[in-house]
Amino acid sequence: RTDGHTDYYDLAQRAADLEILPGLRTRIWGYDGRFPGPTIEARSGRRTVVRVSNGLDVPTVTHLHGGRTPPESDGYPTDLVRPDTQRDYAFPLDQRAATLWYHDHRMDYTGPQVWRGLAGFFLVRDAEEEALPLPSGERDIPLMICDRSFAEDGSMPYPGHLDRPGAREAFMGGVLGDVILVNGAPWPQLRVERARYRFRLLNGSNARPYELSLSPDGVLVQIGADGGLLAAPRGLRQVRLAPGERADVVVDFSAYRIGDHVELRNLAGDGPQGRVMRFAVDRDARDDSMIPKVLSRVERLDPARAKTTRDFEFTSGSMHGGTRWLINGRPFDPKRMDARPRLGDTEIWRLTSDVAHPVHLHLAHFQVLSVNGERPAGQPEWKDTVELRDAQTVEIITRFTGYRGRYVMHCHNLEHEDMAMMATFEVV
Ligand code: C2O
Ligand code: CU
Ligand code: CU
Repeated sequence: RTDGHTDYYDLAQRAADLEILPGLRTRIWGYDGRFPGPTIEARSGRRTVVRVSNGLDVPTVTHLHGGRTPPESDGYPTDLVRPDTQRDYAFPLDQRAATLWYHDHRMDYTGPQVWRGLAGFFLVRDAEEEALPLPSGERDIPLMICDRSFAEDGSMPYPGHLDRPGAREAFMGGVLGDVILVNGAPWPQLRVERARYRFRLLNGSNARPYELSLSPDGVLVQIGADGGLLAAPRGLRQVRLAPGERADVVVDFSAYRIGDHVELRNLAGDGPQGRVMRFAVDRDARDDSMIPKVLSRVERLDPARAKTTRDFEFTSGSMHGGTRWLINGRPFDPKRMDARPRLGDTEIWRLTSDVAHPVHLHLAHFQVLSVNGERPAGQPEWKDTVELRDAQTVEIITRFTGYRGRYVMHCHNLEHEDMAMMATFEVV
């Protein structure tokens, strides 16, 4: 539905039985009973209202990951939508074109609720991007990559139930599945023409990082990251994606011959976890697309402008007789404010890790200033999630614009998030 200024969508959260593995039924929880949920295509600057009705028997929270959203619609983890109620989430989308996604964000239960299927794509388009001759239409394809495990009867039980005794300790590293799904299907095949395709890659896994590459060896030309187009394309042999991260890449299948099979592999996994999907090169086709040498103008945030530098340490620690994941030694507490940046201010946040943590900020897209003291090579890019590897210090720079109010920063390993690795900041 649409009127003069607003597009409306209805998403009904409900359980459904899908055939994910051949011949078996899997009970999922999905937006509209689908996994992944419906892809929402929105326009920059055009208000989009999503009405979520909760037909499940548990409370939910919906968050638009990568959205610049006012706090009342951002899905704060305690802002629950109770069973049999509904809520309108309003997204002004005052932001550039980018590949976003929506997913559940309920405090302490995000891991199990996303695992069961509560996630979908949300694409923001704008005129700047549409003016470029990039692959579009049927050749612009979002791919949600996530791992799950299945029982013999086809069910997809969440193993890490944190209220179960011992589960926290057993799943400290996060919950991994042994089957890699792409848009909800295991090892799918896509028939492609000998032409360029744009793939919007999303790591929607709870805890598994991927290192994606083509086999036979080929080039993934990265054109976009979490926060939209890069300044210039980047030809890569591998793309690493931690949970929550996105990369838009272009693959040119005219480099292959009709009848070729090309695989998208995961170099970070072995055996079945090393296989993601395959492409069957089917036929010749006309292709007017191109990858321009200049994609966008990306402003570089200037550290000399930063008003404040804050430190956040991501480590484990013991709390209440068990081990928890903590930020600055403290577990998530919605009643506590951990930082109060001022609207309009530029700040540097220095993030340090013990083991790997993909760190995500709501509202404020950022740029990476340094990794272990080294400035990243090349042009700046906009991110909303950055992976800290083991024992790293990553400095990010951001400017708090848009809205005042309460937001979270957290580890996007969803079990770490549920085990309290989250902090609240209030833009004042
Ligand atoms: Cu994708 Cu706060 O989450
Ligand atoms: Cu988010
Ligand atoms: Cu973590």
